[in-house]
Amino acid sequence: MPVDSTLQNAPEIARAVELLRAGELVAFPTETVYGLGADASNPAAVAKIFAAKGRPADHPLIVHLPDAAALDAWARIVPEAARKLAAAFWPGPMTLILKRQAHVLDAITGGQDTVGLRVPNHPVALALLHAFVGAQVRGLAAPSANRYGRISPTSAAHVRAELGAAVTLMLDGGPCAIGIESTIVDLSSGTPRILRPGAITAADIARVLGETLLTRAAGDNTPRVAGSHAAHYAPSTPLRLVAGEQLADAVRAELTSGLRVAVLAHTATSVIAKNLAWHAAPADPAPYAHDLYATLRALDAAGHDLLLVEAPPANPAWLAVADRLQRAACGSGEDDET
Ligand code: TXA
Ligand code: MG
Repeated sequence: MPVDSTLQNAPEIARAVELLRAGELVAFPTETVYGLGADASNPAAVAKIFAAKGRPADHPLIVHLPDAAALDAWARIVPEAARKLAAAFWPGPMTLILKRQAHVLDAITGGQDTVGLRVPNHPVALALLHAFVGAQVRGLAAPSANRYGRISPTSAAHVRAELGAAVTLMLDGGPCAIGIESTIVDLSSGTPRILRPGAITAADIARVLGETLLTRAAGDNTPRVAGSHAAHYAPSTPLRLVAGEQLADAVRAELTSGLRVAVLAHTATSVIAKNLAWHAAPADPAPYAHDLYATLRALDAAGHDLLLVEAPPANPAWLAVADRLQRAACGSGEDDET
């Protein structure tokens, strides 16, 4: 994607670069979710990310790069498969896990021998990355700009609400086009493995690589991604997944016991009742994913006792959404400091 040179020279980008070089945090939009960015080579700046998020120190961060040409400066082994995926999907919602170069900070990798790398597909992110990196070996460490374990932000307002003062500068690029985090593919040893499902599916990747991928099924909570815990993306309100055909009965039972219930349903027919808020979600996985986090935030803020979510279909197109919903269910109902 050609980088927007007007944007790259915009005063806000220049200000963001200045702050990043001074070790401050800058939140920026990507096509997936908003990121909380810091200079990946500055240990003090990276430490600020962990403090702002309340994130455990052993959870590795993704390094964002301006283009695939920067791969070799950060990864010491770049297999052919990684080059093919980068050529096919970057800039885009895919993170590659590769053997790290020696200079990559332990705080970035969680002390592992690998590093996660990604070129995001958003004009503001790309302008920022090109301006920040220049001809140097630089990158932006950026996790999703939310408190640890909570719902990822898909608008600047979400970031402000959640991290506020911890962010020195907020680049507002409007709502995120995709709405859930990048697909993570581990290419650091043997057969490629998907560690986190996303908008780019196993079938998309297999088409490019011509080989079978090991995919982590939704609901398999083995923490193969350090930092990928069963509980994540979680609202404070308890959230339960219910099969579509059981939804009406489940709603009735909860209302009878006196709870204020919100339902998020993508196919089930709505029910009208006192103390019930029914939210109709898109019936296709891409628009569903686009709206998911904003909807969960809104439902979480509305003072319900329980969120009942119609379980998504068990097929590959819905895998990334199913993964987020299962983790949201798992971590829901806890207070904010988990
Ligand atoms: O779409 C995205 O990937 C967003 C945007 C901002 O780029 N970023 C994002 O970052 O989701 P974060 O930190 O919220 O999630 C990154 C995931 C974590 O589960 C982390 O454990 C995993 O990537 N990860 C990072 N480096 C890794 C590594 N070397 N090995 C295994 N997993 C890694
Ligand atoms: Mg995150």
